Amino acid sequence: MTQQEISEDVRKIVERQLGLEDYASAHSTPLPPLLQELVAETEREMGLRAAMLSGHVQGSFLQTLVASLRATRVLEIGMFTGFTALMMAEALPEDGRLITCEIDPAAISFARRFFERSQHGGKIEVREGPALETLQSLEGPFEFVFIDADKGNYVNYYEAALPLLSDGGLIVADNVLWMGQVLDPQSDDARAIVAFSEHVTRDERVVNVLINIRDGLMLIRRR
Ligand SMILES: C[S@@+](CC[C@H](N)C(=O)[O-])C[C@H]1O[C@@H](n2cnc3c(N)ncnc32)[C@H](O)[C@@H]1O
Repeated sequence: MTQQEISEDVRKIVERQLGLEDYASAHSTPLPPLLQELVAETEREMGLRAAMLSGHVQGSFLQTLVASLRATRVLEIGMFTGFTALMMAEALPEDGRLITCEIDPAAISFARRFFERSQHGGKIEVREGPALETLQSLEGPFEFVFIDADKGNYVNYYEAALPLLSDGGLIVADNVLWMGQVLDPQSDDARAIVAFSEHVTRDERVVNVLINIRDGLMLIRRR
């Protein structure tokens, strides 16, 4: 195979992958208008950081998990502009609670503007500051924990969250494929993600599965 033929094959694979992601989005319940506005405004105001948004399909998947578990208390580590917080809050009952940890004041004020306009915003409690410190101050149980903050702390977040998890609860960690770099980790973040996945997979207290959706989700439950 020539270099040109290989490049052409790679281009087709990437195009098909992007096409399949669009197809999955087109065949999932559309985002409500407020969430569409949040995504558009995040893209306008946050520049390249907007790539941190979970996106329509993954956000809907998290919402489905929260609804299926009939969760009443959710913990999020890494809120950014509030997309996943609002998606998950929508699946909570009226008296449900979502505690979300975020360190960036600009992201917090952005998210709060949208929480105030949402009928589900009252279920969300933002804890500002380093998430590891916040976790030390929390009491469980939470039926659902979403880990999506700085990658270097993933093992610490997991170890702090596991004792807070309810019986039958679920921890989900995002970005466990780190854009494919886990196959040949060259950066600190990629190595941290690999260390996290190895740590969880070795942990006999839990059962885990790594799902190849978007940038990779690790689903973890107690044995
Ligand atoms: C990937 S974004 C979260 C995206 C969000 N869950 C979503 O899908 O819309 C990660 C967020 O974690 C925050 N973060 C990074 N380090 C943190 C820390 N030590 N404590 C709390 N938040 C942190 C960042 O400021 C960023 O907004």
